[in-house]
Amino acid sequence: MRSASLSLLLVATGLTAADAKLDFNRDIRPILSDNCFACHGFDAKKRKGKLRLDTAEGATALKDGIRAVKPGDPEASELIKRILSKDPEEVMPPPDSHKQITAAQVDILRRWIAQGAAYRKHWSFEPRCVRRFPPSPAPRRSTRSCTLNFPSRACSPPPKPTRPASCAA
Ligand code: HEC
Repeated sequence: MRSASLSLLLVATGLTAADAKLDFNRDIRPILSDNCFACHGFDAKKRKGKLRLDTAEGATALKDGIRAVKPGDPEASELIKRILSKDPEEVMPPPDSHKQITAAQVDILRRWIAQGAAYRKHWSFEPRCVRRFPPSPAPRRSTRSCTLNFPSRACSPPPKPTRPASCAA
């Protein structure tokens, strides 16, 4: 009985980990950045194979009938095929780059593509998920009477802190 519930628990946690929604900036960008962006990133001069993996447009573009990333379909995605290839001419990252991707990372990439391969802007371009209060419009000395007379027209309650929609998840 005890071992049965334990294995149930393990199955349950295993499922949760596998189904957890992956986040591009947290889970995917670091892998691509370490292993792929040197040759498939922002820098057009260093870009190889005319493939750009740091944008959704680049990664999903159709070229000669293949897509590096086919959202929802890891098996049809050239990116997964190349990473798993046994052919030293094909495998990515190329052996002479001395970069190496782990089985766990491949699994993450595969799950991300299966989940729809959602891209997100680099975190520095995203609104920050912090409570932001607009600067107080009233000069300091008026604060007190303002509070005492509340509610008055001159002293409307401070606007609610804004939380950018992108932080909802
Ligand atoms: C050291 C440079 C370098 C690195 C690092 C690198 N690649 Fe490449 N990649 C290339 C070159 C060169 C080509 C073009 C020749 C070819 O198709 O093999 C290419 C081609 C590809 C293609 C085929 C593009 C097409 O349209 O045919 C895919 C997919 C790809 N790379 C994925 C990756 C992924 C994913 C990574 C990281 C895990 C990666 N590459 C890392 C150099 C690199």
